[in-house]
Amino acid sequence: MIKEILSIKDLAQDEIKNIRDLKEVQAVRVKYLGKKGILTEKIKALGTISKEDRPEFGRVLNETKIYIENLISRHEESFKAAELDRLLKTQRIDVTLPGCFTPGGHLHPTSIVLEEIIDVFLSLGFRIEDGPEVELDYYNFEALNFPKDHPARDMQDTFYVTDDVVLRTHTSPVQIRVMEKYKPPLKIIVPGKVYRCDADVCHTPMFQQLEGFMVDKAVSMADLKGILEVFAHAIFGPDTPVRLRPSFFPFTEPSAEIDIGCVICKGSGCNVCKQSGWIEILGAGMINPRVFKSVGYDPEVYSGFAFGMGIERITMLKYGIDDIRLFFENDKRFLEQF
Ligand code: PHE
Repeated sequence: MIKEILSIKDLAQDEIKNIRDLKEVQAVRVKYLGKKGILTEKIKALGTISKEDRPEFGRVLNETKIYIENLISRHEESFKAAELDRLLKTQRIDVTLPGCFTPGGHLHPTSIVLEEIIDVFLSLGFRIEDGPEVELDYYNFEALNFPKDHPARDMQDTFYVTDDVVLRTHTSPVQIRVMEKYKPPLKIIVPGKVYRCDADVCHTPMFQQLEGFMVDKAVSMADLKGILEVFAHAIFGPDTPVRLRPSFFPFTEPSAEIDIGCVICKGSGCNVCKQSGWIEILGAGMINPRVFKSVGYDPEVYSGFAFGMGIERITMLKYGIDDIRLFFENDKRFLEQF
């Protein structure tokens, strides 16, 4: 009997030695120590042993069981440790590595400058209006005193949708839409996209403008100059000189081109200002009485000024950017500088 148990012990020992993984550990445990395991059966059979032999037999059986249990457990531990080691090697997370950094975006340079410009005019009591980018010829031209076939239409390389519908070439049509809707006094700015069939280092088929106009009794050219000086000083610095130069737009009379002292050379003459010391930044003028007539305002009672500027141009001057196409290339090396 005792011999039999010792040979079971030897057998188990051999089997345990040859175990290769955790699965086999489990199988050997079931085989010897499970509910119907070889040793378990022997323990169950203790009752059939004679009373004299039972204590000795029980002791050997018990020792063998504990011995095998320990042996299996030790193997199990070493397999678990090896498995953990393997996992740590193949799936380790190195907490000392820097984390994945998702850079935060920011506003496009033209949006930054547009917001600055809007802030200036809001602080002066102007409010924002907008209008459609696909516009009737009537608002884009006709009501602004560009008769059909008038040569001034050639100044604006127009995208026609139909004979009567265009992509607006400027934000000035919103002057008409607003004046049709409201009575004076008005102090309005209109930021928005405009379209012209033109492309080079200074022109893109789509660009942004900001229109501004004021209508009231006794608005004068001095008001226009004063407001534009506040604007130029806020955007380009308090020492920036501003001058008005005679010009022509069908919807303003008189009309002016507004120049600022060259932001690059400060007036001494450079390539950007073509040695003149001045840079044109926007068009402006006193609203033409004909425009007032087309919206039903009495030009004997009301007067007003209007101006329009290109946002990309202002941004280029402010930051010294020499190619408008950089704004559209989405090159992060360029955009990250603002
Ligand atoms: N709309 C004109 C342009 O796009 C600019 C302008 C606006 C001029 C208002 C005078 C008054 O060229």
